[in-house]
Amino acid sequence: MKKKNKVNGTIKYTGKYIQLSRDELMDTMDQSMSSRRFKHVQRVEKTALELAERYGVEKEKVSIAALAHDYAKERPDEEMRDLIISENLDLDMLQFGTNIWHGPIGAVLMRNEFGLEEEDIFEAIAYHTIGSPEMKEVAQIIYVADFIEPKRAFKGVDLARELADKDLRQTIAYISSHTLSHLLRRKNKIYPRAIETYNAWAVSHKEEHNDSFVY
Ligand SMILES: [Fe+2]
Ligand SMILES: [Fe+2]
Repeated sequence: MKKKNKVNGTIKYTGKYIQLSRDELMDTMDQSMSSRRFKHVQRVEKTALELAERYGVEKEKVSIAALAHDYAKERPDEEMRDLIISENLDLDMLQFGTNIWHGPIGAVLMRNEFGLEEEDIFEAIAYHTIGSPEMKEVAQIIYVADFIEPKRAFKGVDLARELADKDLRQTIAYISSHTLSHLLRRKNKIYPRAIETYNAWAVSHKEEHNDSFVY
């Protein structure tokens, strides 16, 4: 409790993006997920705010998106499935799992329950897991922060942290390739937008036009 005030106590929400104060948003998240996940959410916010400071992005938007990014993660599968249909989300998602669902659904729930209309925040929540070819700065930051928050310990995360200190675009390129190769290695089904994200951010021009490789 003390920690959150110490770390991010300077941010005061203006009310122009959601109908909640920062403390109310924190409490909402705290009550919507396990304490383990809520701690992850707080680390993502801290990391995201550091990136916002570094890259000159609006902190209120970044804070809201970070705190809300996993809002839907622990909703029952049935509820999520119903929302995909009733909210006219991409029905192809039904062929995948909650890992793919919880971003877009979290954004929709934030809109329905707390009046979130602001597009940068909405897309940041919606795209945080697999990215998108057209992520604006808030979405870029949440995508990166979710991957590099301090408790992440997988192979390659340190390189992502180093990149994030220098160049957001390169970091996204790295993360999208890393995610894709991880899924390929595990022979997991790949949601098409993960490939689109990779194509948009990670493919170098050299490779894109290299037709010397014979298939
Ligand atoms: Fe997530
Ligand atoms: Fe997350």
